[in-house]
Amino acid sequence: MVFNPREFISEKVSWLRAEIKSMKAAAAASGGVDSTVTAMLGHKAVGEKLTVLFLDDGLMRDGEPDSVVTRYKQLGLNAKLCDVKHDFFEALKGVVDPEAKRKAFRSTFYTVLGRLAAELGATYLLQGTIAADVVETQGGVKTQHNVLEQIGINPLQKYGFKVLEPIKELYKPDVRRVAAELGLPEDMHQRRPFPGPGLALRVLGEVTPERVETVRKATKVVEEETASMSCFQSFAVLLNDKATGVREGKRVFGEILTIRIVDSQDAMTATVPRVPWEKLERMRVRLTDELPQVVKVLFDLSPKPPSTIEYI
Ligand code: XMP
Repeated sequence: MVFNPREFISEKVSWLRAEIKSMKAAAAASGGVDSTVTAMLGHKAVGEKLTVLFLDDGLMRDGEPDSVVTRYKQLGLNAKLCDVKHDFFEALKGVVDPEAKRKAFRSTFYTVLGRLAAELGATYLLQGTIAADVVETQGGVKTQHNVLEQIGINPLQKYGFKVLEPIKELYKPDVRRVAAELGLPEDMHQRRPFPGPGLALRVLGEVTPERVETVRKATKVVEEETASMSCFQSFAVLLNDKATGVREGKRVFGEILTIRIVDSQDAMTATVPRVPWEKLERMRVRLTDELPQVVKVLFDLSPKPPSTIEYI
């Protein structure tokens, strides 16, 4: 059956309206296409009764919290920026195991949302979980931060709100079709995916504000240098090891960054495109010039499978 975005929108808007009734709802949105589409559907369904929360968890990209909230307000959404960096860095302190990190992120994410929803008097939380998130979490590939009920966690009992997931049957290409139909600006619906747990998935070892800052600056460089490339995602990763380098004629023990560039349709599999050597070299030059703590830059050649796109 051919997917019809217009019918999908009208069906989900009616469903949300019938569920929420006269109550209040919150949506957690990050600027990504999945959560933005979900917030727009909620807004169409119940208008101002929906508050769109952008959690500034300290794990977003450069300038993202302010720019996303400004865009949301321009789209007519009742958007609110919430500074919750402290909650997340406290929860991630000393955590190095990848699954433990994901779980620490997830439980902080929902605890914080529970607190914010209670402050707003919201009964429902709308979230942009998509089919790939559910399939991978249930399949044990990894704990997606936004999957709860599908793995037996009752959000009402545990966090105090009911979850509504209007796009959970869709894969990314169909989410983009819905975004286009909703009239979202092109740069929003064609936006490259960025994971909910953000830069925490790109820092191996402990996630501290300083280490996140390194990867934030590196990500900006990689994204700028690959902006004209057609790829699914491009970013930098900070490894949890150090290597010997030379700075100002002296041996130093510095950080190692990896450049990750992948092509994919639905994120379930991914390949690595051929990147012109000059482009890689430019990134390397900028990364070691702009980040004096970095002494090595690597390029990741691994497809998914056996790799995953992110490092955690
Ligand atoms: P992996 O690393 O599993 O990533 O190959 C597949 C796609 O999903 C994104 N990703 C996530 N997105 N919450 C999200 O919202 C998560 O916990 C999460 N983990 C991975 C990743 O960026 C890629 O697009």
